[in-house]
Amino acid sequence: MKKLLVFGRRGQLGTALHTFGQSHEQFEIRVLGRPDVDLTDSRSVAALIDTENPDGIINAAAYTAVDDAEQDEENAFRLNATAPHWLAKCAKKRNIPLIHVSTDYVFDGNSETPYRPNDDIAPINTYGRTKLAGEWGCLGTHPDKTYVVRTSWVYSEWGSNFVKTMLKLGETRTELAVVHDQVGSPTYAADLAQACLDMMSQILDGVVDAPGIYHFSNAGTCSWFEFAQEIFKSSESMNLSETTSEKFPRPAKRPQFSKLDVTKFEETFSITTRPWQNALDECLKNLTKIITT
Ligand SMILES: NC(=O)c1ccc[n+]([C@@H]2O[C@H](COP(=O)([O-])OP(=O)(O)OC[C@H]3O[C@@H](n4cnc5c(N)ncnc54)[C@H](OP(=O)(O)O)[C@@H]3O)[C@@H](O)[C@H]2O)c1
Repeated sequence: MKKLLVFGRRGQLGTALHTFGQSHEQFEIRVLGRPDVDLTDSRSVAALIDTENPDGIINAAAYTAVDDAEQDEENAFRLNATAPHWLAKCAKKRNIPLIHVSTDYVFDGNSETPYRPNDDIAPINTYGRTKLAGEWGCLGTHPDKTYVVRTSWVYSEWGSNFVKTMLKLGETRTELAVVHDQVGSPTYAADLAQACLDMMSQILDGVVDAPGIYHFSNAGTCSWFEFAQEIFKSSESMNLSETTSEKFPRPAKRPQFSKLDVTKFEETFSITTRPWQNALDECLKNLTKIITT
């Protein structure tokens, strides 16, 4: 059985990977978090990778607090740029594949068509700049076996995310105004986790040998307002209204359009992404189970 080492244990993607790892037929999946290792401590990371002796690495850890990063660039850079660079060095030393997860926020959001992996990058906030530096660090260090997977609008049953925030607000409010001028694609963390495992499987089996940048999200596009409409579609008591980013200012600017074109991912790995509404239904059902058990 091949062994995968995953970083980001308590994060959304890390938790999804851990869940799949409980009963995976092909991989032993070891998911590590901060109690095991601080990714910014390069020596400990290198020693741990030597001890674990994995066949592949997935980096699901990141500094994801987009607004905080504006005031905390040093720490964001350390985790989003320096640490992946170091992981790539370790992966190169062992000649094993690295899947490094990145973001739609490497784009400025001015496109009118979905972003393809080779489209011009121009991040408009600190988080996006640090993540872009991470992509470069990995691809520059270990170009033969690095797969950068950019994703967008990640949500899950775990951690904090838009879906859970909306549901929480829905417990006490009957009216909500939600931004309608930012458009993108929601990504269910479980689908992203499955995509990373399918990729790793095909890479390790030699079916695919095409390192580089890929885009992954669920299929379809929506605004945050439309995302909220879908979340509350079965709730009669919630009244949603549209608002604008201007009326809802935040420390970090967000791209207004960040739909990712997933064609390269689908064609290279022969995988079809499912509609975001179907993935959301599954997450909402799982959340209901968690609440009622
Ligand atoms: N969330 C989104 O909407 C979104 C959108 C686009 C791209 N992405 C990308 O998708 C990936 C997964 O995101 P996510 O939402 O699953 O992230 P997340 O839930 O915020 O989890 C991030 C993980 O990073 C870990 N971490 C933080 N500092 C660390 C350190 N010094 N050493 C080791 N681990 C550390 C955290 O560990 P602790 O649990 O110990 O805090 C946490 O497990 C990231 O690369 C992110 O940039 C996310």
